[in-house]
Amino acid sequence: MADTIHPIHHPAHQAAARGALEIRGLTKRYRVSGTPFTALQDIGLSVAPGEFVSIVGASGCGKSTLLRLIVGLERQFDGEILLDGRPVAGPGLDRAIVFQEHRLFPWLTAEENVALGLLKSHHPAADKRRLVREHLELVGLGAFAKAYPSQLSGGMSQRVAIARALVARPRILLLDEPFGALDALTRSHLQAELLRIVRAEGITAILVTHDVEEALYLGDRVVVMHPRPGRIAGIIPAGRLPLAEDGGAPGPGFGHDRADPAFIRLREAVLAELGAGHAQPPARRAA
Ligand SMILES: Nc1ncnc2c1ncn2[C@@H]1O[C@H](COP(=O)(O)OP(=O)(O)OP(=O)(O)O)[C@@H](O)[C@H]1O
Ligand SMILES: [Mg+2]
Repeated sequence: MADTIHPIHHPAHQAAARGALEIRGLTKRYRVSGTPFTALQDIGLSVAPGEFVSIVGASGCGKSTLLRLIVGLERQFDGEILLDGRPVAGPGLDRAIVFQEHRLFPWLTAEENVALGLLKSHHPAADKRRLVREHLELVGLGAFAKAYPSQLSGGMSQRVAIARALVARPRILLLDEPFGALDALTRSHLQAELLRIVRAEGITAILVTHDVEEALYLGDRVVVMHPRPGRIAGIIPAGRLPLAEDGGAPGPGFGHDRADPAFIRLREAVLAELGAGHAQPPARRAA
């Protein structure tokens, strides 16, 4: 794993704050066997550039749907999704997504998989090669550029997927349960690595997770969603929680201190908000 952050010299680098997301009145309906079904209802959310927002909620409350809408994979919806003031109208290099499974191509090497993130970019070939190399180093896999996914562990493969998502230097990184399939130790290494990278690069991050501790450890805010219909039930500010420390000082890759009493109180608050969604009688849940 890389101990230091390698600054990325990106040709399209912009110093200005970027990655402001504004969602207003977002409603998404599906048709299931002819019957309309409201997956998301009246979602409103403003995310500041560089902010880290976590989303938690019961299975089926629309978390993945929300990420797919932001990334532009679903184009039919009511309401507005604005990135830096411009409406999202399809996938673009300014947004990238990492899924629970790494979704690497097994017949391509790590560097070839990362290079796929630049397929639609217009950089000269030499710049692309340099960016791929730099991003593999960024996730601590510089020595594994020629390795195939079958030769990498689950955590290493997920790091390749993160490098692929970051290589085009997106304004927003969307993460859909990216660490769900990993063991606890790998998971906490990757959480720290992710924090270091998004902070160093100033990237706005939105993380979906089922793990309330992970949500609070990483997030400046935790959005709690309720199902049927999928909606935002509450937003819990976590940005002022004390940071975890390494040898007496907060490190760049350290999230909030899980042992702090304020952390534990917020964890209870998030769990209570989640539980309130389950406790509703079915009659009040009708979409
Ligand atoms: N393409 C689709 N067509 C019809 N219904 C869909 C489609 N995609 C999602 N849904 C429905 O929308 C709802 C929200 O699904 P979504 O995958 O966003 O939930 P989620 O919060 O990510 O759940 P999980 O925690 O299990 O991943 C579900 O009821 C699902 O059945
Ligand atoms: Mg999901």
